Parts: sequence; structure tokens; C-alpha cells
Amino acid sequence: MVSTSKAPEKWAAKVPQLDLGRYARLVSEKWLRCLKNITDSGKVLNGPHKKAFEEEWAAYLGVKHVLGVASGTDALVLSLEALGVGRGDEVIIHANAFIADVEAIIALGAQPVLVDMSSEDLGPDYEALPNVVSERTKTIIAVHMLGLPCNVGKLIRFSEKYNIPLIEDASHAHGAAVQELHGVEGTGGRGKKVGSFGKINAFSCGPVKNLAALGDAGCIATDDTALYEKVKLLADHGQAKKYEHVVYGWNSRLDEVQAAWLRLGLTTLDERNLRRAAIYLRYVKALRDLEPMIDRKEGPPSDKFPVFHRAVFFSKRRDELQGFLRARGVETGIYYPHALHEQEAWKRAGLPAGSFPVAERYARQNIALPLFPEMTEEEIEYVISSVREFFRR
Ligand SMILES: Cc1ncc(COP(=O)(O)O)c(C=O)c1O
Repeated sequence: MVSTSKAPEKWAAKVPQLDLGRYARLVSEKWLRCLKNITDSGKVLNGPHKKAFEEEWAAYLGVKHVLGVASGTDALVLSLEALGVGRGDEVIIHANAFIADVEAIIALGAQPVLVDMSSEDLGPDYEALPNVVSERTKTIIAVHMLGLPCNVGKLIRFSEKYNIPLIEDASHAHGAAVQELHGVEGTGGRGKKVGSFGKINAFSCGPVKNLAALGDAGCIATDDTALYEKVKLLADHGQAKKYEHVVYGWNSRLDEVQAAWLRLGLTTLDERNLRRAAIYLRYVKALRDLEPMIDRKEGPPSDKFPVFHRAVFFSKRRDELQGFLRARGVETGIYYPHALHEQEAWKRAGLPAGSFPVAERYARQNIALPLFPEMTEEEIEYVISSVREFFRR
């Protein structure tokens, strides 16, 4: 039977939230030569690019060790396992974090313990942290959400006071840094990079990240040689020598294609992060009078160097605004639409609505405007005029 109903028109963004193809086209000539070298060499795993990426990224972060793994989720699981997290242990995490942080805890049979989100930044509610410490608390994961560094000074003080190792999840924050403040040692100039403060730290380098692979990829970063060796062992089938398996691990490798693409990305990471910051500040300046469109009128605090993984703003009329922008061809995102305890997967553990009011309000109000380094001036202006038009009506 032939359907007579008209197929719905396909929506095409006039301004996409992110366009990975534009960056790829800029580097394609160089990249294709590099790719040919990899495929011609026949060495696609455990080759020179993985090693070089690990060294270059470790030097950039100012840490002793980086190990490339297959994904950010793996990096989290491996970090937790290397710290000895297992059945019955508790891990603190903030309610606005990403689901992978909880999944990694659950995968090891441990229990995620939520705190609300900070109203100071998008990290954990620092004042609430001591209230959830128990004798089963094994570690805390702090996510530098959307490129905005957490208050690492407060996190380090908490970690030291309660002897609870800190894991930074810096998946949104490649290149973000904090100034030398609160007794935190920096490297001068543009501060000390996030992902270098915790006992062991996890990065996703998935395709939409500021430092992105062509597919799934991730890494851990640490100054602790014993932890690094442990992760290395676990990520390689628990293999101490070829076919000598001293523990059960699994397989988590950063392959040569991903490592080479990441190395290429690293050469322009700072430059592209600066362009992100410039676009974000354009938005802030152009939209600051639109109460309550944003509540960070002054831009980022001066002791932090955020990298604007997303251009997140806030509005009580978020859904309406998102619909309006969509109708004008402006693609936006929400990171994320639900707090962790509001997800269906968590619900069986039963934390009622209202348990974490800051994270819940944030989930209802956040909206990310288009942001990627290759955006054109016309696109930026179009986004600004579209948002202004919404609030003018
Ligand atoms: C904050 C955060 N942590 C962890 C992950 C998981 O990383 P992956 O997708 O590489 O497994 C993501 C992925 O988007 C993330 O945003």
C-alpha cells in the first residue's frame, strides 16, 4: 500500500551546535598522509603514535604518566580499580555529572553516593562533601563540567583532610587550568592544568571533546608510578609478560589511528580553546542584559582558565527558548536534561525529587548555544540575534 501522508520535512540546522567536519577538512591533507603512513607500516596497535601521544600529553599536563586507553569510561573504571575500589565501597560523585561516572562505579560493584552540585561552579557542593563521608568511602570523582574547572583547592583540602583520593574526570576540560591559589601549586603563567591534581585522573577523548579522537578514545593521567603500572596491567589482560597473566584484566587500548589524530589535535588545542573562549565571551557580552538568560554575567572567575567545551547558559524558559531557536535553525544542546538520581536507571535506588535541588534546577534551565572554533562571524551574530529576538517578543 502506498502511503499518501507527506514525509516530515528533515530539519537542517542553519547553525549547528558543533560541526566536526569543518576542522577535519582543514587538516585533511596532512591527515591523509599520516594515515597512509600508519596503514603502510602495518602497525596499528601499540605503535609509535600511542607512545608519542602519551609523552606529549603528559608533558602538556605536567604529569609523570599518561596511558592511552579505549574510552573515557574505561579510563574511569581502570582508575577506580587501580585505587582498589570494589564491592561494598562508596564513591562520592556530584548529581549533575555524566552517567559514565556512575556506570564505572557500578561496574566495580561499588556504590555511588551523590552530593548536590555547587552553586559556585558546576562541580560538587563542597560544603556537603564531609556530610557524606563514611568508613566505606573509597574515593571522590569530580567532573570539570563543560570545561569549567572545579575548585581544586577545596577538593584537595577535602581529599587530604579525610584521606580520600581524588579522581578528576577532565573529559570536558582538555587544556583548562587553575591559577596558583589555595595552596595549589601551579606552573605560572596560565596556571596548572586540570587532570593533573587528582591521585589519578580520567579523560575521554571521544569525537566531540576539545581534544577529540576520530572515534572512541581516552586516557588516564597520574604522577603515581604504582597506579600507572596497575592501570597498564589491567588494561592489557593483566599481562605481566606475554601470555603471563598475573591478574584478570581486560583489553583497553588506544590504537594508532586515534593516537595520531589526537597528536594532530594537540598542536592546535590551545589556539582552538582560545577561539572557544572568545566566542563564549561574545555571547556573554551580547546577552548579559537578558535576565534571566544568564546568571554568570561577569564571565569566568579570574583564577580559572576554562575551555568552554560547551557554551552553557541558563533560562527559566529553557524549553521554550530551545524550541524557538530550533525553529530559526539554531541547534542547541542540554548537558544534561536530568540529574543522575532522576535517571530511570537510578530510580530503583529511590532518591525523591528535591534531593539535590541545585542539580535539579540546573537540569531544567541549562542550554548550550552553538560553539566550536570554526564558527563563522555570521553564525555567531545569527545565534545572538535569534536569542535576543526570543526575549524581545
Ligand atoms: C564527563 C564525562 N565522563 C566520561 C565520559 C565517557 O567517555 P567515553 O564516551 O569516551 O567512554 C564522558 C563522555 O561523554 C563524559 O562526558
